[in-house]
Amino acid sequence: MYYAEELVEEIRLKNDIVGVVSGYVKLQKKGGNYWGCCPFHNEKTPSFAVSESRQMYHCFGCGVSGNVYTFVMQYENYSFPEAVRMLAQRAGVNLPEAEQSAEEKKRAGRRARLLEVNREAAKFFYFQLRSPHGETGMKYLQRRELTPETIHRFGLGYAGKSGYALVEYLRSKGFEDELIREAGLATHSEKHGLSSQFWNRVMFPIQDINHRVIGFGGRVMGDGEPKYLNSPETPIFDKRRNLYGLNFARTARSGNIILCEGYMDVIAMHQAGFTQAVASLGTAFTPEQAILIRRYTDNVLLAYDSDGAGVKAALRGIGILRDAGLVGKVINMKPYKDPDEFMKNLGRDAFQERIDQAENSFFFEIRMLSEQYDMGDPEQKTRFHREIARKLCEFSEDVERENYLQAVAEKYFIGVDNLRKLVISYAAAGGTARPMERPKPGVAPKKAPEDNIRRSQKLLLTWLADEPGVYEKIKQYVSPEDFTEELYRRVAEKLFAGLEQDGFQAAGIISTFEDEEEQRQAAELFNTTLPNLETRQEREKAFHDILLAVKRGSYEYYTARLGVDVNALTKVVEGKKALETLAKTHISLD
Ligand code: UTP
Ligand code: MN
Repeated sequence: MYYAEELVEEIRLKNDIVGVVSGYVKLQKKGGNYWGCCPFHNEKTPSFAVSESRQMYHCFGCGVSGNVYTFVMQYENYSFPEAVRMLAQRAGVNLPEAEQSAEEKKRAGRRARLLEVNREAAKFFYFQLRSPHGETGMKYLQRRELTPETIHRFGLGYAGKSGYALVEYLRSKGFEDELIREAGLATHSEKHGLSSQFWNRVMFPIQDINHRVIGFGGRVMGDGEPKYLNSPETPIFDKRRNLYGLNFARTARSGNIILCEGYMDVIAMHQAGFTQAVASLGTAFTPEQAILIRRYTDNVLLAYDSDGAGVKAALRGIGILRDAGLVGKVINMKPYKDPDEFMKNLGRDAFQERIDQAENSFFFEIRMLSEQYDMGDPEQKTRFHREIARKLCEFSEDVERENYLQAVAEKYFIGVDNLRKLVISYAAAGGTARPMERPKPGVAPKKAPEDNIRRSQKLLLTWLADEPGVYEKIKQYVSPEDFTEELYRRVAEKLFAGLEQDGFQAAGIISTFEDEEEQRQAAELFNTTLPNLETRQEREKAFHDILLAVKRGSYEYYTARLGVDVNALTKVVEGKKALETLAKTHISLD
């Protein structure tokens, strides 16, 4: 969904950043800013500043900055359209309905009805669990050591022995049979008519990231088959694109996501404080789920069962994570079968240790491989080494491959040079040496070293955003083209155009970028730390230096492009003149 720039700006202006941020962070006014402890990194003394006049925030500890949109995007892990919708609702701004065809409207109506019937069913199960009919279920959950808070938090319920109670309840609430069937809550047969799909099961409502119930998993009481029965795929329940527990895990802020196999594992983990745990929905982990996770972190810890099936699933999962550009590590659960059992026996501190010791996925793969070979047999040992070489070929980056090569050689007592030769011969043979293209994860790229010119460009942008009045005095000397970094130039274009108008706020510019990474970088440009200067002379000198540095940078840039860029000559001539004038000109800052 695309929202018009004016609308985005209107919504931003109606959501005062101090008001929004105080909903999440305790703020205190000090000087011109409001201060609090940064919600994006761990700290005990406040270095997170929110400016009412600029409508931006900036953390002097970890460097994050932005406007009200980027704040809710970072805090709630919302996409930009989600942030727009949330803030529009908060400010009571009506968003235009998307143009919908009759067909689309019907489908949207259907989806809404499916969500409603699921919510009502979840309510029914929830109250059943707490009624006398739900005793079996409640006893079961207590035996599994879930606290009442946990049972409530996950909305757990119970489907009793009657095959009709749910259907009757839903009918009484006005849901038609066809819808109840489509939601997978009941099935129709000649003999029984419409009867409940789930009975004699503890019910786990499956929620999407917005806490809406999209399906159910039901755990049978006793040894019936199947152990877990899940809702079928429906227009609202896509098992490939949702994860159990992600509605809570998305705001866990733990720097990683823990991927488990089962619903009970997730719940046990959350109860122990590991609210970053999620699980796939009764099916194997999918590439779509990996991409979903990538929105929140690029660090994934696998907490799969320690049995053969669990190891196989982990190996598959590692490949999927790798293809999505995520870093996978494997948590060792031994001697226990799964996180649920582990937590019951050894508790959270021991689990935290296992998290800290989680094994790099490459070493995990090699270790699992090593168990298939008898190292006493030279033939098998050779085959094992060949397998390692083949796996090493999958690293497309030389440095990375070499680092792994050395580490694995040391670990398995293989001569480094021999192993390297083996890798080279594999790579040369082509075939198996598939150089992998790894997509870059969408978050937290490493900071490139900043050169002085870029730094001056940033400082000038921040200065202009802080003191819009200065613009009038310098506009004859600088233009957006002087900003030689592509993104900086685009920001400068918008800033300069804005500064031509009264009452302009630079904070609005950030949200005109669609790409989240660009928004982050644009926000940064307005939040460079300006030199802390006392006297007016010092300030004027610093400003003059920055301006000169920007002009000189631009002059050098275009000089280097003479003969390549047709505009370069004009820019060079103009730039030289401007530099000469500027050197003699005093720009006052009052
Ligand atoms: P497990 O059988 O490992 O679940 O299946 P568990 O959590 O240890 O079960 P408890 O502790 O005995 O209750 C892991 C996951 O696989 C799916 C479910 O999503 C389950 O959480 N599953 C398992 C099914 O969908 N159907 C089944 O019959 C079994
Ligand atoms: Mn279990």
